[in-house]
Amino acid sequence: MRTEFAASLERAAAGEELTREDIINLLAAAPGAEEEALYRLADSVRARVAGDEVHLRGVIEFSNYCRRHCYYCGLRADNAKLQRYRLMPEEIIAAARRGAELGYGTIVLQSGEDPWYTGPMLAEIIREIKKLGVAVTLCVGERTRDEYAMWREAGADRYLLKHETANADLYARLHPGMSWQERLRCLQWLRELGYQVGSGNIIGLPGQTLADLADDLILLRQLDVEMAGLGPFIPHPATPLGGEPAGSLDLTYRVVATARLVIPYAHLPATTAVGTLAPNGRQLALQRGANVIMPNLTPTRYRADYQIYPNKICVNEGPEDCRHCLEGMVRALGRRLGRGPGHTLKPLPVQ
Ligand code: 5AD
Ligand code: FES
Repeated sequence: MRTEFAASLERAAAGEELTREDIINLLAAAPGAEEEALYRLADSVRARVAGDEVHLRGVIEFSNYCRRHCYYCGLRADNAKLQRYRLMPEEIIAAARRGAELGYGTIVLQSGEDPWYTGPMLAEIIREIKKLGVAVTLCVGERTRDEYAMWREAGADRYLLKHETANADLYARLHPGMSWQERLRCLQWLRELGYQVGSGNIIGLPGQTLADLADDLILLRQLDVEMAGLGPFIPHPATPLGGEPAGSLDLTYRVVATARLVIPYAHLPATTAVGTLAPNGRQLALQRGANVIMPNLTPTRYRADYQIYPNKICVNEGPEDCRHCLEGMVRALGRRLGRGPGHTLKPLPVQ
C-alpha cells in the first residue's frame, strides 16, 4: 500500500474527520490490496452503524414527464422518442398498498419534474399512503417551499434531491436553465421543514475529476444527509451525452465505500444503476458500504418507459418478483431484511 493511502485509511479507521486530501487518497485506492482494505473498513463501519439489516424502499415511478433538459437523462423533455405516462392518484395509491403488503416500510414516490401533479394533489396522495403505516419519501425534484411544506404537513417523512455534482461549472453545463445555488436552496428548505434529507451525485460524468467526487462527499457531509444515492453515469443514446463512456463501476464502489467513512450514518443504497452495469453490482455495493436497496414497485406496463438510462434492470418483472429476488439476495449475503420504516441512523443528540 502506498503511504498516503495507508495514512488516510488509518485516519478513517480512527474516526478522524477526513480532509479533502484524505478523501481523494481513498477514492484513488489502487486495485488489489488498497481497494480491499478500503472495502473491508467500509463494510465494518456499515456493520457497526447500520447492522446487518438491509432496508427495502419500494419505488413508484409515477410519471416520466419532465420539464427539464438534463444532458444525461433519458426523461429530458426534448426526448421525443419516449412514450410518456402518468399514473392516476388511485393507481399510485394502489401501488403503494401493494408495497405495504409486500412488507416495505418505506414507499418512495418518484417522477420527472411534472407540474401536472399540483401541490394539493400530491398532498392528498401522501395522506392516503400514510394511512398504510409506511414512511413516505418524495423524489419529485425542485418545487416551491410552500409545496415542500404542504407535503411535509401531509405526512411525508423524507425527500431525495440529488445535487448531481458539487462542481458548479459542471452542474451548469449539464443542466441548462437550472442553477446549482437554487438546488442547494431547495435542500436547505427541506432541512428547515424537518424532512430526513437525501442527496447524492452521479459518478463518472464527462469531465468529472476525483477532486470533484471528493467535493461531492464533502458537500454531503456539510448537508448532514440522512441518505445518499451514489450511482454511475450510464450514457443514454437519446441524450447529448449518448456518445460518452459510462462511469466506472470500480470507481463507483470506491465512492460508496468512502462515503460510508465520510458520512457513516447515512443510508446508502446499492443503486439500480450499479445493478444495471453488472449482474452482481448491487451485491458488491452491499458488501462495500451500502445498506439499502430500492426495489421497483411501478406497475410492469410502465416500467420500460421510465428510462432514465438504457438497459435498466427489472423492467419485465412485477413488484412481487423484485421483492422475492431481493430477499434471496440479502439472505445469500448473510444479512437480513430491515423491519419497520428504517428511519435515520443518526444517533440521538446527547441531552
Ligand atoms: N446515468 C446515471 N444516472 C442518471 N440519472 C439520470 N440520468 C442518469 C444517467 N444517464 C440519475 C440522476 C437523477 C436520478 C433520478 O437518476 O442522479 O437524480
Ligand atoms: Fe427486480 Fe431483482 S430486484 S428482479
